[in-house]
Amino acid sequence: EKLTSYRAWLQYEQIENQDYVSKIKPFVQHVAVDLACDEIIDNALIEWQTGLSSMFQINASIIKDGSVDKGLVLKLDQDYQEDAYVLRASDDQLILTGGSSRAILYGVFHILRLIQRRALLAGLSIKETPKNKIRMINHWDDMNGSVERGYAGKSFFFDDYQFIKDRQRVYDYARLLSSVGINALTINNVNVHRIETELVTDTFLSDVKQTSDIFNQYGITMYLSINYAAPVELGVLTTADPLDEDVIAFWGKTAKHVYDVVPNLGGFLVKADSENRPGPFTYGRDHAQGANMLGKAVEPYGGKVIWRCFVYNNKQDWRDRKTDRARAAYDHFKPLDGEFNDNVILQIKNGPMDFQVREPVSPLIGELENTNQFLEFQIAQEYLGQQRHLVYLIPQWKEVLEFDTYAKGENTKVKDIVSGEVFDNKIAGIVAVTNVGIDYNWTGHTIAQLNFYGYGRLIWNPDLTSEEIALEWIKQTFGHDPKTIETIMKMVMPSWEAYENYTSPLGIGWMVNVSHHYGPNIDGYEYDMWGTYHFADRNGIGVDRTIATGTGYTGQYHAENRDLYESIETCPDELLLFFHHVPYTHVLKSGKTVIQHIYDTHHKGVEQVEEMIANWDSLADKVDERRHQDVKERLSHQLWSAKEWRDTINSYFYRKSGIADEQNRKIY
Ligand code: GCU
Repeated sequence: EKLTSYRAWLQYEQIENQDYVSKIKPFVQHVAVDLACDEIIDNALIEWQTGLSSMFQINASIIKDGSVDKGLVLKLDQDYQEDAYVLRASDDQLILTGGSSRAILYGVFHILRLIQRRALLAGLSIKETPKNKIRMINHWDDMNGSVERGYAGKSFFFDDYQFIKDRQRVYDYARLLSSVGINALTINNVNVHRIETELVTDTFLSDVKQTSDIFNQYGITMYLSINYAAPVELGVLTTADPLDEDVIAFWGKTAKHVYDVVPNLGGFLVKADSENRPGPFTYGRDHAQGANMLGKAVEPYGGKVIWRCFVYNNKQDWRDRKTDRARAAYDHFKPLDGEFNDNVILQIKNGPMDFQVREPVSPLIGELENTNQFLEFQIAQEYLGQQRHLVYLIPQWKEVLEFDTYAKGENTKVKDIVSGEVFDNKIAGIVAVTNVGIDYNWTGHTIAQLNFYGYGRLIWNPDLTSEEIALEWIKQTFGHDPKTIETIMKMVMPSWEAYENYTSPLGIGWMVNVSHHYGPNIDGYEYDMWGTYHFADRNGIGVDRTIATGTGYTGQYHAENRDLYESIETCPDELLLFFHHVPYTHVLKSGKTVIQHIYDTHHKGVEQVEEMIANWDSLADKVDERRHQDVKERLSHQLWSAKEWRDTINSYFYRKSGIADEQNRKIY
């Protein structure tokens, strides 16, 4: 049972259906390797054999002289894009042709996925090319073993200021990542503290190399988060000024040494001038100067510098209604477009605030025409119930990717910008903050595995639907019983909406407890130094971000979106309070007043969790006890928490507004 959860979606359960077995068997007797083997191909073959022996009790023989006419044939074709592959099947032969060893590994996982889903192979003809070239994961792991915003136990890389010696978990993780097409990652937190600053020094470089080697075997490139002020922090210099000769020399030397020891390192990820982290602003320099200095240092080795755009004033004064955190990324980085080195990439969070349940898309996306960029999501549910609540995130991310920025006229969608197609970027892709830790099931909540799986699948192919992704995952994770599949689908599909219903309404966000960000605290940030406001009073609520009377944030969008958001008439209900301050009696497009909407959604959200529980209970004899019990416990906590949210929000707004619920339900 422990293993079941640990294996996540790579269950490879024995196949009982003999009819299916007989149809697949011809393809799986032998594998003919018509290419030069390397460690990635070796891992692909191991995976193939593992899968087959477990599902079919077959020991697939590996034939390296290409002389079989049945079974799987592996070939390379240099003309294919690096990660692309083609699968073609006759009645008894399946040919997998890939653009690289990594593509072969992806192709093997693809076939295993098809078999786990009981698809037929005969006649198959599939070409897969990932939409995004770089598909990355960021860990926020600290070397003391804790994980910032980690909800699945401690780090499996570090403990007690050391790398964990037993690397089995890292291998298993690399396997999970590559099975969904992830090809890059950072292993340490963007907040780089004292000890982690030494990751680029001999204190840890051999461990860094060993870890990087493990990921390389699965086609994954490892990067490090670095401390912008490393020269000062390490006591080498008294400045980190990017234009200072000694600073330039420090990074030149550091990069050379790092790449001598770890030649395959991808590069550095940097959080600078953000939430009290050091950066170029300290020295009166801008972010292009800071990033380019590092970019030049790693350039000789093919390294990249990923520079985060999460730069904002975290001490906004409530009296100042013009400063607006939402404006910050655009205000800081738009003017620098075109000034960054070719190997520098700007990493932009999906929304202008911070991974809230509902935010508009960051207006910076689509505005950088001459700069490489990554889009950043968060798989960890920092503000979305911290993996104690069931929230399926793919529907939210799909809205982001499908959003039309109008950057180059109609139909300039986020997915085509971040893939590099719209502005023809050399380097492009998507990254996300991971939700895994040392917990026996990787993600704390077993169903949170779906967000990990789904992230990989979605950024490989953003045109997959949320339903398709969930179905794939459920079949591989929980098997083929139709009732089980249908029931879990009913639980996951509306779960984001449910969470939104019982938490902060209409795009306003926050209303969580300060610093740990769990549970309701409506005025937590309202009266905190870390100013993030909703401005609720007895008359109304919302942040005026219009050009006409507010912070002018709407002006950061192209005309179509600017006008849509600027006008209270056209602004979509779900974002109304993000853009406008309105009275509680304002009537939404739905026909309800804001206050009645708040009451109704908060009751509905709790009912939706009750339905989830009833659904899950009905699977008691379908799912193994450990997983069933575990999810059940989390759901019952979720219900408790949803009620706490409902009651806190409803009481608060009833007392502020003095307007009663039309349905006269209980409000404390
Ligand atoms: C959020 C989060 C922090 C994190 C930061 C970031 O604010 O709460 O823990 O460091 O994002 O993305 O850098």
